Amino acid sequence: MCGIIGYTGKLAAAPVLIEGLKRLEYRGYDSAGLAVVADEHMYQVKSVGKVAQLEAVAGQQPELKKLAGCGIAHTRWATHGAPSTLNAHPHLDESGRFAVVHNGIIENYQELRKHLEGKGVHFRSQTDSEVIPHLIAGAYEGDLLSAVAAALKQLDGTYGIAVISSLEPGVVVTARKGSPIVIGLGEGENLVASDIAALLPYTRQVIYLNDGDIAAITADKVDLRNIQNVPVEREVAKIDWDAGQAEKGNYPHFMLKEIFEQPETIENAIRGRIDHEMGTAILNGMNLSPRELALINRIVIAGCGSSMHAGMLGEYYFEDIAGISTSVEQAAEFRYRNPIIEPNTLVIPISQSGETADTIAAVREATAKGAVVTALCNVVGSTIARESGRGVYLHAGPEISVASTKAFSSQVVVLLLFALLLGRNRRLSRSEGNELADQIEQIPELIRSVLLQAPEIKKIAERYADKEDFFYIGRGCLYPTALEGALKLKEISYIHAEGYHAAELKHGPISLLDERHPVLALANDIPGKDKIIGNIQECRARKAPVVAVITRGDSAVRSMTQDVIEVPPCSRFIAPLPTTVALQLFAYYVAVARGCEVDQPRNLAKSVTVE
Ligand code: F6R
Repeated sequence: MCGIIGYTGKLAAAPVLIEGLKRLEYRGYDSAGLAVVADEHMYQVKSVGKVAQLEAVAGQQPELKKLAGCGIAHTRWATHGAPSTLNAHPHLDESGRFAVVHNGIIENYQELRKHLEGKGVHFRSQTDSEVIPHLIAGAYEGDLLSAVAAALKQLDGTYGIAVISSLEPGVVVTARKGSPIVIGLGEGENLVASDIAALLPYTRQVIYLNDGDIAAITADKVDLRNIQNVPVEREVAKIDWDAGQAEKGNYPHFMLKEIFEQPETIENAIRGRIDHEMGTAILNGMNLSPRELALINRIVIAGCGSSMHAGMLGEYYFEDIAGISTSVEQAAEFRYRNPIIEPNTLVIPISQSGETADTIAAVREATAKGAVVTALCNVVGSTIARESGRGVYLHAGPEISVASTKAFSSQVVVLLLFALLLGRNRRLSRSEGNELADQIEQIPELIRSVLLQAPEIKKIAERYADKEDFFYIGRGCLYPTALEGALKLKEISYIHAEGYHAAELKHGPISLLDERHPVLALANDIPGKDKIIGNIQECRARKAPVVAVITRGDSAVRSMTQDVIEVPPCSRFIAPLPTTVALQLFAYYVAVARGCEVDQPRNLAKSVTVE
């Protein structure tokens, strides 16, 4: 959730760190700070608010801009202790010689703090993280890596950390347990970060740390060990994203850029994955033998937020297309409710970041129970991708906006491809397979046609921007679509929005409806439309304003509301995709009209690495 960057090399460290923090800001932020060691001195700057504020404060120390050396920095999303300069990282020990940035949660920090205070240590912050520099200072006997290892052995909980010391200029020590850390390998410089987005301007050669790894990096060396101090080797991965993909270009917001990228990102998700000769999909990363494929008798999908909504669509696809019984679990519940996993259960964790703590826990639980686990991730080499061992990458490129858009649509497309593969293995004929494959290949074009309507969607959004409550309703595959549309609206515009199955409205929430409660009805021309039309009438009868998504050219709903968003005709399996894009645009324009910070909504972080 918080972001970490560390640097050691030939450049002045502070500007590199601030640039890196800007690239991490999307992960979560309420304060930021950096520490640099140069000429055996520790320099430190912290500030509440955004990285731009930290940059302004750092600007008051012009020498910082020139100091070559090593440094660490952090953008914080508060867990323990309110957002404040004192609680911002880095945290220093009392002597000011050891500085630490930390992501994660130290569960036994209260005992450790009490113990340290008993020994006369004065704490400056209310954070759990501050125990770490004090423990390192107490353990230091001339070797920073050993002192960090000794400190970490006393911690319960999760951490991704970076540490520097004025006693060892040029060295950054980093370690991970439950919170991602990646080392970037440069030429005459090396970096460490919680997220590859921060490393892209410097290198695309990276090493992902495993849980329990600890490393000391200098400008030209990476000394990698496990917590028992035994050297370990890790693969060097090559990232195929470039720095430009993580920039806004001419778009006012990352979210808009990412919405408009969807025709291409979906093409990337499909490329090379359809076999027209056999009328099926090719998903080599799934690495499932024909026997394993044939034996799968149940699928369990686990994910959080938008990824879970994609999974809900997967449930429709796997059951309807492949005839395999499927259930979707909130990843946060999966581990704690002792799920039934049998030998032929396939578990599919879905995660854009591959670092969501609850989904990682679900992967571990499923693996421990003997399930076949195949993940859907966007970030190559992420924890879920590595721990699942097999799976499919989305190839959506870096998703920077906190609100997921292009990753969601790619997840849905990959689930469709997987359902096609499983369906062909079971009950679909080759021509039925090819028919679905053709439909999947048309998705980018369908989305282009929705994007062309952005100006009309903007006008409707502006008419509704002053509302405070919204219902989104849908049926069939458009039910998870309604949930996803409502999530987008609430997270970026702060309008209370609830997604409901259209039939459920009558079982309670309809009592809320009046002229202040608009309903966004997904009335596409697919099975169930007649029933949705009935639901729209029920809403109109309670004076609720209705915005309807309809299939282009369909006049049935037009007479009921003037606020209509048209999407191109397509089947019930495909309809969620153009419809979702229309709802993403609607949410985006509402949020812009309300003056909200679209890319960095309050209280949210891009990757939720704590439970
Ligand atoms: C919503 C959103 C979140 C994420 C959720 C899971 O727009 O972005 O709901 O979908 O936090 O994140 P990942 O997919 O990275 O596991």
